[in-house]
This record gives sequence, structure tokens and C-alpha cells, in this order.
Amino acid sequence: MKVSVIYHSESGNTASIADAISKGASLGGTVESKSMHIDKIDQNFIEESSAVIIGCPTYGGTYSWQIKKWLDTAKINLRGKLGSAFATENHIGGGADIAELGILGHLLVKGMLVYTAGNVKEENVMLHYGAVAIRSGDEYQQKRASALGKAVAEKAKELFS
Ligand SMILES: Cc1cc2nc3c(=O)[nH]c(=O)nc-3n(C[C@H](O)[C@H](O)[C@H](O)COP(=O)(O)O)c2cc1C
Repeated sequence: MKVSVIYHSESGNTASIADAISKGASLGGTVESKSMHIDKIDQNFIEESSAVIIGCPTYGGTYSWQIKKWLDTAKINLRGKLGSAFATENHIGGGADIAELGILGHLLVKGMLVYTAGNVKEENVMLHYGAVAIRSGDEYQQKRASALGKAVAEKAKELFS
């Protein structure tokens, strides 16, 4: 099974959260997980993925225009795949939750099954709308990012394997 983590990032914060999500999604090496910048995607890998997790920096209190452009223009069929979202911001309350909800709306429009696992009691983390991080995240935020990847990959296995 494959999981794709797709992101926009200018200064590396969102890229580092994407890597933490991808590591969690690999379920200790039993799942092929790849983290890809929107400018360097592996289209075949995405199309073969059971789950696709999409993230960006918060711009002006919502998702970046670059990730919106990618979602609007990418010629990739995401229908029926499990989908989830993440976002970074500069300060608490900067709009990362709104950015995630914007991405999740796009995923629904594309016919994806949207999932975050909510609160993961076993990992002691709260995900709510996805994996928010302030810049590249502190230890807890990095752990939460990894937990999102793990939860999405486990659900994809349950649904599709
Ligand atoms: C054009 C622009 C708008 C931004 N708007 C916000 C914002 O509304 N709220 C916020 O908390 N951070 C905002 N930021 C900061 C970024 O969301 C934050 O630094 C992010 O982690 C950068 O991610 P990156 O390193 O992956 O590019 C903005 C940054 C830029 C460049």
C-alpha cells in the first residue's frame, strides 16, 4: 500500500511537518510513503496511493494560493482515496485550522473520503482538523504530525487492503 504526502512550502516549515507525517504513515516500513513538494510530484505514485495527505503554510489566515492552484489544476484522479490535511502557521491563532478546512473542502469536492482520526488516545494527541504546527513545530506538534500519518495509513489499510 502507498500513501502520498503532498505539500507546498517556501521556507521549509511545512516540508518538515510533511516528512514527519510521511514517517508516521510508513507504519515502521510496512507502507510505502512519500513526501512530495507540489513542484516535484510523482504522479504515478499518487495515483497508486490509497491515501493522500495535503498541506501548506497559512497565508492571510487561510491555505496558500499555491496549494489552491495545485488542487484546482492538477490532473490527478483522487476520487475514492482517503484524504487528510495539515498546515503550518507563524503564531497560534494564525489561521492554520481554517487552512486545513479549506483543503478538506477541496478533498470532498474531489470525491475523497476525509479523515483525521479526531483524538488519538493511544498516542495522547488531539488532531481535530489535521496536524497544525507553528512554523516547523515543537516536539508535541511533530509527534502529532507523525500520529496523523500513522492514523491515516492504518485507516487506509483497514479500508483498502
Ligand atoms: C504571504 C504570507 C502570508 C502569511 N500569512 C500568515 C497568516 O495569516 N498567519 C500566520 O500565522 N502565518 C502566516 N504566514 C507565515 C507562514 O504561514 C509560516 O511561516 C509557515 O510556517 C511558512 O511555511 P513554509 O516554511 O513551509 O513556507 C504567512 C507567510 C507568508 C509568506
